[in-house]
Amino acid sequence: MQVCRTVAECRDVLAAYRQTSETIGLVPTMGFLHEGHLALVAEAKSRADRVVTTIFVNPTQFGEAADLDAYPRDEARDLAMLEAAGVDVVLIPEVADVYPEGDETIVETTRMANMLHGKVRPGHFRGVTTVVARLFNFTQPDIACFGEKDYQQLQVIRRMNRDLAFPIEIVGVPIVREADGLAMSSRNVRLSPEDRAAALILSQSLDAAERVKSSDPDTLRETISQTIATEPRATLRGLDIVEAETLNDIQSGYAGPIAIMLSVEFGGVLLLDQRVITL
Ligand code: PAF
Repeated sequence: MQVCRTVAECRDVLAAYRQTSETIGLVPTMGFLHEGHLALVAEAKSRADRVVTTIFVNPTQFGEAADLDAYPRDEARDLAMLEAAGVDVVLIPEVADVYPEGDETIVETTRMANMLHGKVRPGHFRGVTTVVARLFNFTQPDIACFGEKDYQQLQVIRRMNRDLAFPIEIVGVPIVREADGLAMSSRNVRLSPEDRAAALILSQSLDAAERVKSSDPDTLRETISQTIATEPRATLRGLDIVEAETLNDIQSGYAGPIAIMLSVEFGGVLLLDQRVITL
């Protein structure tokens, strides 16, 4: 596995692959890797000859400097995990290499970035698309893998990729779950044993919504809220039910796939889950 600390070095390594007509799969990350990231790597490996992973804690997608500083980092562990997973190249660029002195260019999906989670995290998705567009440019992959867990991020990136006509296939990778159905997350370790057991209500409420087989957002919202309300340790914090591709509110007569994005708090720990249902 080659570890590149500069974009120029990474470009050279990837150019050599291209010369022998090898395809390239990109897995962008901010490091502190877990099973979910390894699922992205496995998917990229199954679809491309070579896999490049980036580790870059992107300052432009954080609202508060304190959140950026507090972001966990463990490069040695990340590199060991990526090597074991069979990654070919890791790019770990400096901030100045990604955002050169005097940088003034942003990339923004003006509608999708500023709705739903984007309303409570102003500038967040603009930071994501600004960095992902640059990572696409640095690595020029054939495919790029992103988790479906961050569903709005995935759709925002798909829209940017389409609008800017990058010749890249965006692959959404399903959520990795524990055996009992809880979506894997680095936050799960912060749950007390009682909250860990209670947290199953997230996937159970999505199962219940899928069973009602309705495209009426009110019916789906009620089913999910009622299921969550059966678990006294759970506090429903966010529930968005939207058209899966555009993230728009569901209009009457809409017959396409529906995305449900759910956030529920357990003893101060906020957990996310999502489901796309097609009737
Ligand atoms: O999902 C993430 O880890 C980040 O938002 C991404 C896509 C690597 C961009 O910094």
